[in-house]
Amino acid sequence: MNILKKALVLSATLTSFGPGVAYSEGTVEVLHWWTSGGEARAVGELKEAFETQGGTWIDSPIAGGGGDAAMTALRARVIAGNPPTAVQLKGPGIQEWAREGVLNSVDAVAESENWDAVLPPVLADIMKFDGAYVAAPVNIHRVDWMWANPQALEAAGITEMPTTWDEFNAAADKLMAAGIIPLAHGGQPWQDATVFEDVVLGIGGADFFRKALVELDQEALQSDTMIAAFDQLRRMRGYVDANFSGRDWNLATGMVMRGEAGFQIMGDWAKGEFLAAGKVPGVDFLCAPTPGNGFVLNSDSFTFFKVEGDDNIEGQQVLASLIMSPEFQETFNLAKGSIPARTDVALDAFDTCALRSHEDLLAAIENDALVPSMAHEMAIPRSIRGEFLDLVTNFFNSDMSSEEAAQTLAAAVARAQ
Ligand code: BGC
Repeated sequence: MNILKKALVLSATLTSFGPGVAYSEGTVEVLHWWTSGGEARAVGELKEAFETQGGTWIDSPIAGGGGDAAMTALRARVIAGNPPTAVQLKGPGIQEWAREGVLNSVDAVAESENWDAVLPPVLADIMKFDGAYVAAPVNIHRVDWMWANPQALEAAGITEMPTTWDEFNAAADKLMAAGIIPLAHGGQPWQDATVFEDVVLGIGGADFFRKALVELDQEALQSDTMIAAFDQLRRMRGYVDANFSGRDWNLATGMVMRGEAGFQIMGDWAKGEFLAAGKVPGVDFLCAPTPGNGFVLNSDSFTFFKVEGDDNIEGQQVLASLIMSPEFQETFNLAKGSIPARTDVALDAFDTCALRSHEDLLAAIENDALVPSMAHEMAIPRSIRGEFLDLVTNFFNSDMSSEEAAQTLAAAVARAQ
């Protein structure tokens, strides 16, 4: 390790999160898509911590849930030879950029802080290229969550959160009869795909999910199980209101908050919205995993692009160290709705939804039921994910049969590979 790097690692290690002396500086331009109430609050924690350490933070938010607009903006920036210092980016996307030779390594920081010892191996692998860390994870989000308004459920005579899709349908019918929108949903491709993958897990189980949405197995894609998943999705189309098209996910969460809708199916960034609005889990809103067994994993991370200049490089190293500090992982995730990516952070300050997430994560690892999210870019290349999003959205917005959907999907995926 050269002297400059050593000094940087040392300063990154010495600086601790929280108010205190500014040991180091450095500049980062951070491209992200955290613009909703809960998201802005969470990324605000990161900005504040970085600035408290003496760094300069240049904020580059690109609105659009799920990050599709942000990824388009990123490509334009990289092609123009002007990449941001750090980008909210995840899954195989990290490897794709690394292969293009446009990332910087933060392995010196990772090594000196022994990240390997505190990250679940499945996450550590995603953050590395050729054995060196090029990204740092901030959290573990769970995609297969269902959020509900307890007063709305009560008004419709629903006493328990559904644990099977039949129970979900029965509860939705009751809400409808009571004049309450059963499912708050935003008709955007990534949101359609989020609901779809949760249904696939619930109907097919983790092995089927993996075959169909990760390994892209043709038989699984065309199977009766996939057809059954589309049938359930078709049923759910009947549970959304007339104005669902194009709605942002956080507006759908607002509908549940206000009791206009009973349920929302969305990852636990929705909890960040409830919390930012001062809502209390178990009182103002309920959380439960969507029906089925398993855990759909989504993890946000910051990836470090090839920038030059001591100030930018130092910014990357300081940011990497900060992101991985146990204190920051706690503060950030309390706001974001997720749980820490580090396995050694105490969860005492976290709510019951987060504890459930943690417990189910461990059980899913144990039972081989942990699956990476297709909708949230943890599973497959972006181009193939695009085929899923197109087809699922097309299905949701047409009267396509489930059989046709399964066949068309299989054919599109085969063509894209
Ligand atoms: C990200 C979350 C974000 C959500 C909605 C997901 O893909 O992982 O951090 O809150 O999209 O924008």
